[in-house]
Amino acid sequence: MSEKAVDAQGICKSYKSIHGKQSIVLKNISLKIDQSEIFGLLGPNGSGKTTLISIFSTLIWPDRGSLRILGMDAKSNKETIRSQINISTGKSNFPWSLTVQENLKHYAMLYGMHGQQLAGTVDEVINAFELEEYREMKFEDLSTGLKQRLSLAKAMLNRPKLIFLDEPTAGLDPEIALKTRKLIRGIHKEQEIPVILSTHNMLEAEMLCDRLAFIRKGKIVALDTPDALKHQLKLGEKVIVHYVGKLEIKELEKLPGVLNIIASPGKVEIVVDRTNENLDSIIKKFAEVRILDIKIKEPDLEDVFIELAR
Ligand SMILES: Nc1ncnc2c1ncn2[C@@H]1O[C@H](COP(=O)(O)OP(=O)(O)OP(=O)(O)O)[C@@H](O)[C@H]1O
Ligand SMILES: [Mg+2]
Repeated sequence: MSEKAVDAQGICKSYKSIHGKQSIVLKNISLKIDQSEIFGLLGPNGSGKTTLISIFSTLIWPDRGSLRILGMDAKSNKETIRSQINISTGKSNFPWSLTVQENLKHYAMLYGMHGQQLAGTVDEVINAFELEEYREMKFEDLSTGLKQRLSLAKAMLNRPKLIFLDEPTAGLDPEIALKTRKLIRGIHKEQEIPVILSTHNMLEAEMLCDRLAFIRKGKIVALDTPDALKHQLKLGEKVIVHYVGKLEIKELEKLPGVLNIIASPGKVEIVVDRTNENLDSIIKKFAEVRILDIKIKEPDLEDVFIELAR
């Protein structure tokens, strides 16, 4: 397992608009991802996540930079690499009038299977992804959650050694999203394959990913474990107070240790540095109001995202 799942150095990519103007989408991306990892790509809309996944999965080529996938040079081994990886996107699109089984057979054929092997593999993924009762259902009649599940099932047909998931839970309700995350974790654990995914869901990033890269305007601006990212940024704890009465927000802002204040009628969120030494002086400012509720919240990935996206 010494080979990296992905070893990218200096990846650059730009697109030409219809007016001939070059826009740089990825700027000098260098990234090594281990085979043991579930690795997450985070970043605002348009930051370059899908472009990077498309490059890593050899769907498009970078303008510059070197890329090794599963230890092989991407350009000179693209056929081998393509047979050993797979990709699934949250915005899945399959032939609409084909059933679940027909769609899977269709892909299995594209992956070079036939006869007993094809039938056996299709049955296997139908079972593994609990699609049995939808076997004869047309793609167009499937719910969003089932479409996503079919897309994941399709991605396992060629027994990949590495999978890419572009927003695998986009548009799913919380319960189905949770189920999908369990499936992803299951794939990673049982098949022992690295998973590289993009997501806008911070809970998902935190729950699933061993490490995260935060991409902004085509550059990696942070790269670490979810926990380390939260601590590195020195984001303060948030004291959230619901109250009735008149509070001098300006007075609060002046207090030592107060990093930021977000005030709305009857509610104030005070971001304090992590030492908590100043909590006492902050609470004293509430002497004249009636406190309904106080919560102290640790910074979460959502805070990290907002900070890094700025
Ligand atoms: N084929 C293309 N031709 C021209 N520009 C493109 C093309 N594909 C992507 N872009 C542009 O590249 C930039 C990055 O797009 P990309 O889809 O990689 O972002 P993303 O991080 O995946 O965004 P999102 O979170 O919205 O999915 C965007 O400005 C996008 O408009
Ligand atoms: Mg995208």
